[in-house]
Amino acid sequence: MNPVKIGNIKIDNPICLAPMAGFSALPFRVICGEMGAAYCPTELVSARSIRFNGLGRNSRYSKIDPAREKIPVIQLFGSEPEDFSAAVSKLLADPRYQGLKILDINMGCPVPKVIKTGSGSALMTDPVRASAIVAATVKAVEQAGADIPVTCKTRTGYDDRDKSGPDFARALAEAGASMICIHGRTRPQMYAGYADYDAIARMTEAVKPCNIPVFANGDVKDGKSALKALERTGADGLMVGRAARGNPWVFRKITDELEGREFEEPSDLEKRQMLLRELIERREENADCEEGAVVREFRSVMPFYIKGEEGAAALKRALCNASSIDEVKEILELD
Ligand SMILES: Cc1cc2nc3c(=O)[nH]c(=O)nc-3n(C[C@H](O)[C@H](O)[C@H](O)COP(=O)(O)O)c2cc1C
Repeated sequence: MNPVKIGNIKIDNPICLAPMAGFSALPFRVICGEMGAAYCPTELVSARSIRFNGLGRNSRYSKIDPAREKIPVIQLFGSEPEDFSAAVSKLLADPRYQGLKILDINMGCPVPKVIKTGSGSALMTDPVRASAIVAATVKAVEQAGADIPVTCKTRTGYDDRDKSGPDFARALAEAGASMICIHGRTRPQMYAGYADYDAIARMTEAVKPCNIPVFANGDVKDGKSALKALERTGADGLMVGRAARGNPWVFRKITDELEGREFEEPSDLEKRQMLLRELIERREENADCEEGAVVREFRSVMPFYIKGEEGAAALKRALCNASSIDEVKEILELD
């Protein structure tokens, strides 16, 4: 793959982790980075909440670690340009976010709770507002004296009749977005069916005159599917979501296979050890929380690490009842 530039940031191997609420905790992002993901954004964080509640309450989800992340990226969602201006000013004035390298804006979330507020994929119905959000974010970065590119993650349309994707992408680029990532599904498709690479290609084409990279997203899980997504969309890079759940090795697999190297799948033991590592690091990150709460939150993640193992169903049931790290270790027969 060719290197890409997102604003001032050069990326040699443009395959990133797609943000995933519930999965994109800092330890997992660090692990995916070690496996070769170019960068790994946080899950969506409310710009309005940062504006009005500050970073204390939000720091769990917006936490970055420039010492362990090559390119720390925060994804914000919201519907009011002023919320983004205020949130960005707060973030960039806070010493904990000095190493922030990219700000991403969510314009694709299909969840009703988010859409109801005019955020996420609802922004696809209001390109003027979406552009105003990009412009306000870029301006707030400039006013803070920072050099941080603003990127957008969106879908191919609000619904199946919506043909405005190319115009929407172009509007975001003209408003100042330094990269656009396109998930090849419309909002009502949620995550069902196949990603529409032709629709991504039309949007990529529309953005060409603006000279910014486009990343394609949807259904990439190995070298073959990565090549197909790149060739069919004409995109400059890729984001990988679901295939990375419990499988951070997917980044190494894609890169190895694209570059013609044999990839050796991790053993069941390696997967179990990685599950435990993520859990222990999540615990360390949340030292002020009760251990049981951290383990319970991790219950939705654990099954992905043991998928495909013999006896996975019984193992999954046991893990989904665990409330302590010791219990998880015992179930997985790890020291
Ligand atoms: C559990 C889950 C949580 C997600 N949370 C976010 C999110 O916080 N922000 C975002 O932009 N997309 C989110 N997405 C969408 C993914 O980033 C990605 O666009 C989608 O899964 C399609 O890519 P894939 O086929 O590689 O999974 C989420 C997806 C899943 C499955």
